Amino acid sequence: MKTISSVAELRKACQQWRNAGERIGLVMTMGNLHQGHIALVDEAAKTTEHVITTIFVNPMQFDRVEDLEAYPRTLEQDSKMCKEAGVEILFTPSVEEIYPAPIDTVSQIHVPGFVDRLEGSSRPGHFVGVATVVNKVFNMVMPDVTVFGQKDIQQLLMIQKMVRDLNMPIEVIGLPTVRETDGLAMSSRNNYLNEQERVTAPKFNQVLTKMVKRVTEGETDYRSLEDEAMQELLGYGFGKDYVEICRIEDFLPAQAGDENLIVVAAAWMGSARLIDNIQIPG
Ligand code: PAF
Repeated sequence: MKTISSVAELRKACQQWRNAGERIGLVMTMGNLHQGHIALVDEAAKTTEHVITTIFVNPMQFDRVEDLEAYPRTLEQDSKMCKEAGVEILFTPSVEEIYPAPIDTVSQIHVPGFVDRLEGSSRPGHFVGVATVVNKVFNMVMPDVTVFGQKDIQQLLMIQKMVRDLNMPIEVIGLPTVRETDGLAMSSRNNYLNEQERVTAPKFNQVLTKMVKRVTEGETDYRSLEDEAMQELLGYGFGKDYVEICRIEDFLPAQAGDENLIVVAAAWMGSARLIDNIQIPG
């Protein structure tokens, strides 16, 4: 595995592969890797000859400086995991390499629509930061395939929309959320949980699973179900963010009779902001 931190060197390696007619898979991360990330690498490797993984804690997508500063940086361990997973290039640029000009002067990508709700409204500016950095890295690598996790469902759908809207010849694959054995969605932010919080954290997924069951059994008063779920989470000690049953195509609140529904939620456990979602069968 080669570790590269310059954009020019990354482009050169990708160009050589493309000239040879070989397919490139891209997995973008912010590091502090876990098995969920490795599943993305494995998926990318299924249909491409070369997998590139990026580790870049992107300042443009953080709405709180404390969050950016506290974000876990574990490059040595991450590098080992990537090597074992068969990654060929690990791209670890500096902030200056990605943003040579001051960040507030950089052109931005705004994907309109559902992106402004839920995660978008809880974290102002977040998705502009994500879409911009993803776009930049797509332009550097020009991958054939890229893989993102379904845990960040709005992010995944936003990237798929951006790729469609801007005619990028890239297949964007969404991989089901990888979970701990107790149901907690794997996330780098789980490292912020202390022992007691880690014991309580799986309740988050359990509450959402219960909502899904009740909807599949025929309940359609979605707003009451959301209120109940929120009360239950608060009762377990979670801090409030959102719980919503919405339509997956536009992330608007679901009404009785709507189809293709998803439960999406974010909640705080101590200093960890957890997010999760479950698609409702049928
Ligand atoms: O999901 C993430 O880790 C980040 O939002 C991403 C896609 C790597 C962009 O910085």
